[in-house]
Amino acid sequence: MEVKIIDRNGWKRYNLGQDKSSHRCHIKKGFILLLALTFLLSAIFYISDYSLKPAMPPNTLYKVVNQIRSYYVVIDIPSAHDNKTLFLAPPPKANQQVQQTATTTNISMRHHDAYPRNYHFILDEPDKCPQQNPFLVLMVPVAPHELEARSAIRSTWGKESSVQGNAVMTLFLVGLSEGAENDKVQQQLQEESQQHRDLLQSNFVDTYVNLTIKTMVIMDWLATRCPQASYGMKVDSDIFLNVENLMTLLLAPNTPRQNYITGIVMWNRPVIRNKDSKWYVPEELYPEPIYPTYLLGMGYVFSNDLPKKLVEVSKDIKPFNIEDAYVGACLKRLSISPSNPPDSSQFRAYLGTYKREEFMRVITTILNSPQQLIDFWQDVKRLT
Ligand SMILES: *[C@@H]1O[C@H](CO)[C@@H](O)[C@H](O)[C@H]1NC(C)=O
Ligand SMILES: *[C@@H]1O[C@H](CO)[C@@H](O)[C@H](O)[C@H]1NC(C)=O
Repeated sequence: MEVKIIDRNGWKRYNLGQDKSSHRCHIKKGFILLLALTFLLSAIFYISDYSLKPAMPPNTLYKVVNQIRSYYVVIDIPSAHDNKTLFLAPPPKANQQVQQTATTTNISMRHHDAYPRNYHFILDEPDKCPQQNPFLVLMVPVAPHELEARSAIRSTWGKESSVQGNAVMTLFLVGLSEGAENDKVQQQLQEESQQHRDLLQSNFVDTYVNLTIKTMVIMDWLATRCPQASYGMKVDSDIFLNVENLMTLLLAPNTPRQNYITGIVMWNRPVIRNKDSKWYVPEELYPEPIYPTYLLGMGYVFSNDLPKKLVEVSKDIKPFNIEDAYVGACLKRLSISPSNPPDSSQFRAYLGTYKREEFMRVITTILNSPQQLIDFWQDVKRLT
């Protein structure tokens, strides 16, 4: 189960087990059992208050229940989705975070690695922008095997092709898949591309460490294949995106049309030097202790003059493996400051319990699964 929590690094995700469905199911069953047990014991205590002395002091039970309650945050999807109650684990404690992400990688990036023109497109859609003349392009970095995430987006915010009279386009970017299944995955990608015409693939190896390359390839695509668009957005595949609200923001008279980038602004973030952390950056790659101000990678929007500038400046900026902070470093070199959104509460890393009113107000927030995107979207749009 993947869960996002906030920590000193910003919002990041944690892998909390292999088999999502059975894990969730067991938690659910266990939770229901515990509730039943709690109810039973409470009843016994209630009765015994009048008669016998309880076998266990009531506050012990209270503590146990509270501990369980604090361990699982319950998200209720209202009405039609009653059977889809999800359980989220609590944020790991500071020292656990490191253990959970312990995948010490030998991180090395050469100086030219993030310069996107060192790569080329295997799947491309060069005619799409000239034909559709989009006002806004949503660019989604996604792993080759994450078909479910792409399908969920295609059936929700990715299908919004005209919003408030302006053309919107959604495209996915994948790299090369690694491993034994390689040929099969590639074959499937080709077919998916034929079918949907919304896949871009570049020839870098698609890994976590290489996300910086992925982001810069997105910028390169916008700069070279879609300079006519007014705005672009880099948006992760696990995001709820309210395109309507985003459009309102972009069309507002005060929204700059150049040198503009907004999202969740991260400032004064320390570089993680713990080798066991997923966000470890060796000093050789990034010597300073603090990152320049950047926008949280989950979703940032920018005027479409920026991609070209970012690509050009990236030639001179040594890459490191934290993609959003790397864009921050490029922006700093360009002397462009990230802007806070007019209403910061619209860019939310995480909204707790699902509330329709809140999802109607936000622009971005992180979700836990492609199914959640479909469920929340249908409820927000009242499609069920
Ligand atoms: C990391 O990889 C480089 C090049 O592949 C190698 O020279 C270096 O010894 C490796 N470092 C560690 C700690 O494994
Ligand atoms: C990143 O991509 C480059 C280019 O394809 C590749 O040589 C390198 O091994 C990749 N790095 C990792 C850590 O996957």
